[in-house]
Amino acid sequence: MTNQTIRATNASIEVVNHPLVQHKLTLLRDSKTESALFRSGLREISQLLAYEVCRDVEPEKIDINTPLESMTGTRVDGGKLCLISILRAGNGLLDGMLDLMPTAGVGHIGLYRDPDTHVPVEYYIKLPNRLEERLCIVVDPMLATGGSATAAVQRIKQAGANRIKFVCVVAAPEGVEVFTKAHPDVPIVTAAIDRQLDDNAYIRPGLGDAGDRMYGTK
Ligand code: PRP
Ligand code: URA
Repeated sequence: MTNQTIRATNASIEVVNHPLVQHKLTLLRDSKTESALFRSGLREISQLLAYEVCRDVEPEKIDINTPLESMTGTRVDGGKLCLISILRAGNGLLDGMLDLMPTAGVGHIGLYRDPDTHVPVEYYIKLPNRLEERLCIVVDPMLATGGSATAAVQRIKQAGANRIKFVCVVAAPEGVEVFTKAHPDVPIVTAAIDRQLDDNAYIRPGLGDAGDRMYGTK
């Protein structure tokens, strides 16, 4: 199945419909999937989503010798990339992507949703240097109200980034609207856009609380 690209007022949202991505997503959604399998599923889906998000990265030429002759190949310069995880659950996507892009810069932004207001509260930020020279790939499995991703991208822009993409696993239509209104220049890559948020701002059908499912907390 081909990907679905949605364009809304200049924003781009790519829903990755590849059968392997949808297979992994179903495993993550299943409440019977325990933490260890949930973490490995996130790692695997992150690598499939990385393939999509890096599709338009400009490789550079490199001269090499095969065992038989010399040739010009290409390489992706990790120094021009930065992976930024929204803690905690973003780390479930970060690790798999780092396996593919081991020399990329790495940043972390700690945010949690206030349980009553659902407004994100920042508790930590550490970003690498030269953000303005890098494609910044911000990762978090869930885009629910959109508050956390919107705030994180705002902080990353303040730190100098001007090319940013956001990768999640499940998005709510409400969150997509909030995020794309605030950051129409930041494309979203996701495995699914679900039906709606519920009264507790959880995504339905969703996969539950991603951080809790990763680490077995409540
Ligand atoms: C979850 C998730 C996102 C956020 C999405 O994190 O990983 O960061 O909620 O919700 P929003 O779009 O409504 O802001 P949470 O705040 O539960 O923190 P955790 O990752 O530490 O569990
Ligand atoms: N955060 C999650 O982890 N899951 C949701 O459904 C909403 C916010």
